[in-house]
Amino acid sequence: MPETNKTSISNLKDNVGAEVTLQGWLYRGRKSGKVLFLVVRDGTGLCQCVVEKGAIPDEVFEELKRLGAESSLTVTGTVRVEERSVGGFELAVTGAKIVSPAIDYPITPKAHGVDFLLKHRHLHLRSQRQWCIGKIRHTVIDAIRRFFNDNGFTLTDTPILTAMVGEDKQSLFEVDYFGTPIHLTQTGQLHVEAAAMSYGKVYCFGPTFRAEKSKTRRHLTEFWMVEPEVAYIDLDGLLELAENFVSFIVAQVLEQNKSQLETLSVDIDALEKIKPPFYRLTYSEAVEILTGEKTKEFMAGELTELQSRKAEIENRISELEEQQKGQLKQWQKDKNAAELSELQNELTEVDTKIQNNPKHAELAAEFRWGKDLGGSDETIISRMHDKPIFVTHYPKETKAFYMKADRKNEKVVLNFDLLAPKGFGEIIGGSAREDDFDLLAARIEAQGLEAEDYQWYLDLRRYGSVPHGGFGLGVERTVAWITGEKHIRQCIAFPRMMDKVYI
Ligand code: 4AD
Ligand code: MG
Repeated sequence: MPETNKTSISNLKDNVGAEVTLQGWLYRGRKSGKVLFLVVRDGTGLCQCVVEKGAIPDEVFEELKRLGAESSLTVTGTVRVEERSVGGFELAVTGAKIVSPAIDYPITPKAHGVDFLLKHRHLHLRSQRQWCIGKIRHTVIDAIRRFFNDNGFTLTDTPILTAMVGEDKQSLFEVDYFGTPIHLTQTGQLHVEAAAMSYGKVYCFGPTFRAEKSKTRRHLTEFWMVEPEVAYIDLDGLLELAENFVSFIVAQVLEQNKSQLETLSVDIDALEKIKPPFYRLTYSEAVEILTGEKTKEFMAGELTELQSRKAEIENRISELEEQQKGQLKQWQKDKNAAELSELQNELTEVDTKIQNNPKHAELAAEFRWGKDLGGSDETIISRMHDKPIFVTHYPKETKAFYMKADRKNEKVVLNFDLLAPKGFGEIIGGSAREDDFDLLAARIEAQGLEAEDYQWYLDLRRYGSVPHGGFGLGVERTVAWITGEKHIRQCIAFPRMMDKVYI
């Protein structure tokens, strides 16, 4: 078989009418009469390859008919436009070669539990959903670097092994460093502040680690964070930087990943709205909203919506279960089974939300000034908005030692969290930094941190201190928000979570 004109599925559009060879894997196949429909993936997309009996040698046809999912193969054929087909093109096959057959690929179209899929993450990465999320993550990371590189920021890599407590003492991963206990970094911020005094505008970008004892959908123990830091900036300047930055990331994804967003059924119109200015609320205003009538009504409305969604799901489940009892083609059975499993998952989620709704409504109503906003409080505020929301000026006692006290109201700090809309919650945390030597030294002491370890950090206030600030954006949370993925563990190839490290 000639293997001339090797191409990728992403390049089929430039090869209509030509004979090309694709190198990939069998995503799924089905037979209909004397025709085989093989959906092939090659890392750049999916393409339906149509094999008519007689178009290739009989023995190859027979082999292809029995070929298991994820077998590797090369397929040669003529490219034609086919709007109904995945990707918009088809291959009329003239030749095929099996490179290595896969027998009994463990992941099948039928239902698999989360645990099973995480144990098979090395294979699950090949699935459409994971592939799309990974492509979008790639764009997000590329956009992050591009934004800062094009806006005069200098990249400074900060250490992963450190003696500094960057955020809080409770979530440190200890490391035995030649007999001295140190830990994995929680943030590059303290070091990147030093770099800001050299370059003015800097950023660090790397993995960060938190031994957070929470198994929520928003927490990983290892996650990627980008942290810009700027000399001579105030809180308003930081908010402006953050909204331009996040809008740029979203615009890049819209430009480069439309088809992946469509495959993931993302609400593209909603993403198109992500443009400056974002909403701005102070913490005190957020407390007023949470404890007011608006939240009460909002929560009641949400409960009604959840209950009607529950009824819808239950109806569809009984409809499908009824169908499954009848005579169906195998592929239809598999398709129904996959839909059933998705519906069952959604039902569990909706049930949890129905159960939590009154609890969360009560927590919100009883919220008192001085507490940190909890996950459910953030979710409520975030659900009420269609664009990201800055929440600023939190009570000093709830926040990290380095945040600058508001000189007009010493009870609060000049900080912000950025909440992604529609319930996703916090994707950025940032602040102006305490630039006064005495105030900072007092905060370090008050928080029981080792004064000795922080002397170099205090030097930044001893020698030419300036107002400065920055923020950290979590990559996985941002990808989860943009892709509509509920759990951030799906937004990194090999997630690390509190209860388990799978592979
Ligand atoms: O709000 P955080 O803790 O802020 C800092 O670390 C600051 N030092 C950043 C700075 O000002 N330079 O974390 C920042 C972001 C969060 O908004 C969230 O997106 C992400 O990091 N993040 C996590 N992502 C996944 N799993 C976790 N356990 C996370 N903890 C924080
Ligand atoms: Mg935070």
